[in-house]
Amino acid sequence: MPYADLFIHSASYLATVRGHSGAPARGTEMAEVGMIEDGALAIVGDKIAAVGTTAELEQAGWVGPGTVRLNASGKLVAPGFVDPHTHVLYGGSRENELPLKLAGVPYLEILKQGGGILSTVRATAAADDEALKEQTKKRLQTMLSLGTTTAEVKSGYGLTPDQELRALRLIAELNEESVLDLVPTFMGAHAVPSGMSEEDFTELVIRQMLPQVAEQGIAEFCDVFCEPGVFSLETSERILTRAKELGLKPKIHADELEAAGGAELAARLRAVSADHLLQASDRGIEEMAEAGVIAVLLPATSFNLAKNTYARAREMVAAGVPVALATDSNPGSSPTESMPLVLTLGCLYLKLSPAEALTAATINAAHALGRAERIGSLEAGKQADILMLDAPNLNYLPYHFGNNPVATVVKKGKVVYSAEYRSQ
Ligand code: NIG
Ligand code: FE
Repeated sequence: MPYADLFIHSASYLATVRGHSGAPARGTEMAEVGMIEDGALAIVGDKIAAVGTTAELEQAGWVGPGTVRLNASGKLVAPGFVDPHTHVLYGGSRENELPLKLAGVPYLEILKQGGGILSTVRATAAADDEALKEQTKKRLQTMLSLGTTTAEVKSGYGLTPDQELRALRLIAELNEESVLDLVPTFMGAHAVPSGMSEEDFTELVIRQMLPQVAEQGIAEFCDVFCEPGVFSLETSERILTRAKELGLKPKIHADELEAAGGAELAARLRAVSADHLLQASDRGIEEMAEAGVIAVLLPATSFNLAKNTYARAREMVAAGVPVALATDSNPGSSPTESMPLVLTLGCLYLKLSPAEALTAATINAAHALGRAERIGSLEAGKQADILMLDAPNLNYLPYHFGNNPVATVVKKGKVVYSAEYRSQ
């Protein structure tokens, strides 16, 4: 047995979130976070070698002369957050929409007038590759400092074959150049470009974009903004069916603003996840549970749309739908990179318990990205993506909000972020 390269010890609490790697946690399983008091982790290379109490791991002989020790006393140790729904590759920003929103102009009305997503499409096209990557790297660095160690990133601010392929190429480059692991999703069907019909644009997505994306192998998932006035249920089904045939796994922006059968469609397609779901029907929730579709809930988006409408997470958990949490980080409906904020909102407004919220932000989020074998929990054999949080216990994490609780981020066994505290 080798000695540990890194030994994290004396954690007040260590939330392993163990035991859910084979299938996403659902129902009462979501509250099982495998908590260890006075917890420790032995890390060898980029992997977790052992998990237990500090005394157990010391006695087992993991700590050798070359082992680097990290003292986590007074801290909560948890898996790195997995953010399974983001749109962080974009040019420009949209603070100009805030006064409109405050004046009551609806989100889709801004889009219809050529603003919203379409204004970000213009800003993204205007930015050269280097500028776009620089802006996105800054956001990724913010995400990392807030504890996100793996994130999904969608295309969808391109809307032409060239621009969508460019976005996916840049996501691949950013994955190589960043500390975070990025999971690419093709979302050509994010908005219908100005001057085009939904039908014509759908043909372009199905006949040109999807085959090229599949041939280049640069996306794992395909997503569609399924919403009346954007992409209809029928169109969304056509696009995602073709995507599946080409080997892309389906995800869907479903039932966000209106109840339109998006959750039912996700179940019918056996989508990996259905996301948003503010207006999902009872039947949709039941069908998602039967089909094993993960509900990726985005409470920061609900918060930012300021309509006091949140997804019915308690009903979903009760029905047996596995729930995950994500930021939806994007310049319009969720301009934030913060998973800690999402955990707070998940507790206060989705009524998840802190344990359920943590499960949703780690192992269930990893399942929503098809990565649960490798990340999302602290178990021997898993990638060493670990957070040391400045929280004395799990309740404190969502309870104390608006500040960054992350003290240290370990990614693949290396300390990649450390907050500097000044005592005076
Ligand atoms: O998930 N709903 C559609 N897409 C994003 C918003 C993108 C934007 O406004 O730029 C979302 O909320
Ligand atoms: Fe989204």
